[in-house]
Amino acid sequence: MQQVTLQIAQGGAALDRLAADAAVLDADEQARAARFHRDSDRALYRAAHVLLRNALSRQAAPPPAAWRFVRGAHGRPEIDTDVCPDTGGLRFNLTHTPGLVCCALTRNLTVGVDAECLRRVRDARALAERFFAADEAAAVAAAGPPGSAAEALTFQSLWTLKEAYVKAVGRGLSLGLDRFAFRLAGDTPARIQLRSEADAAHPAAHWRCVLLHLDGGRCGIAAAVPAAAGARFRVLLHGGETAPAPVLVAATPGVEVQPPEAVVAIRSAF
Ligand SMILES: CC(C)(COP(=O)(O)OP(=O)(O)OC[C@H]1O[C@@H](n2cnc3c(N)ncnc32)[C@H](O)[C@@H]1OP(=O)(O)O)[C@@H](O)C(=O)NCCC(=O)NCCS
Repeated sequence: MQQVTLQIAQGGAALDRLAADAAVLDADEQARAARFHRDSDRALYRAAHVLLRNALSRQAAPPPAAWRFVRGAHGRPEIDTDVCPDTGGLRFNLTHTPGLVCCALTRNLTVGVDAECLRRVRDARALAERFFAADEAAAVAAAGPPGSAAEALTFQSLWTLKEAYVKAVGRGLSLGLDRFAFRLAGDTPARIQLRSEADAAHPAAHWRCVLLHLDGGRCGIAAAVPAAAGARFRVLLHGGETAPAPVLVAATPGVEVQPPEAVVAIRSAF
């Protein structure tokens, strides 16, 4: 069974603690951080990349400042194994949204993760009709009246799952969001079903996906991994001393989610 570690940091205090260690970032990350116009975006980027480096160093020998990355054709970052060999096939993906950063770690398998905070999207139906598969657009329309909380939640859940999937496939939004579809069936935790012919390497039935809610559904985190033999998700929570633990709201069959563990503080200086 594939182990997937999700490290989540939420809330100003946890993000500030991480961003304070930005000295571990490499020159490319420092330059990217410096290009943000808003201080809040810069701090979020720094927190995400410090979280990632710390998380990688919990699972392989290089210290946080030693990690180097390369980008694939669609911008997907990976560990630069020329500079960091012998990491045991570690793979990762990263997401940031205001107030929250998350990274997902696996071994020898790709992984995708996405976090979105709930917004009342005024034209959720029109967006779903334009970009989602037809059955997903129908699910958004059936969720509740236009502009309702139920409609927004269904849109957010599908959107978050879809982004996690395209990020795992590595093509980003260039994959085409209507080329695959998620369906959520039943009560919490709902059963996630995926229909896809978009990824020739991994049939839809092999994908293990989870959808977690934080802050009573204000934020959603989805992760996706093509683990045919099943996947066990371990959730490590930074800032858990002030924020309620994430709740599992949906999963594909073949998934286990361990109870969230609080990480009080990790300093990068080792
Ligand atoms: C990847 C993508 C889905 C990100 O979505 P988002 O919701 O805006 O942002 P998130 O916070 O969830 O994720 C951003 C992180 O995803 C990772 N990422 C970037 N490109 C990625 C890709 N193609 N696949 C997987 N992960 C990717 C990066 O770590 C990035 O964070 P960083 O810039 O701080 O390193 C979107 O930007 C996209 O589709 N990019 C691809 C664009 C593309 O195809 N370009 C072609 C260039 S030739």
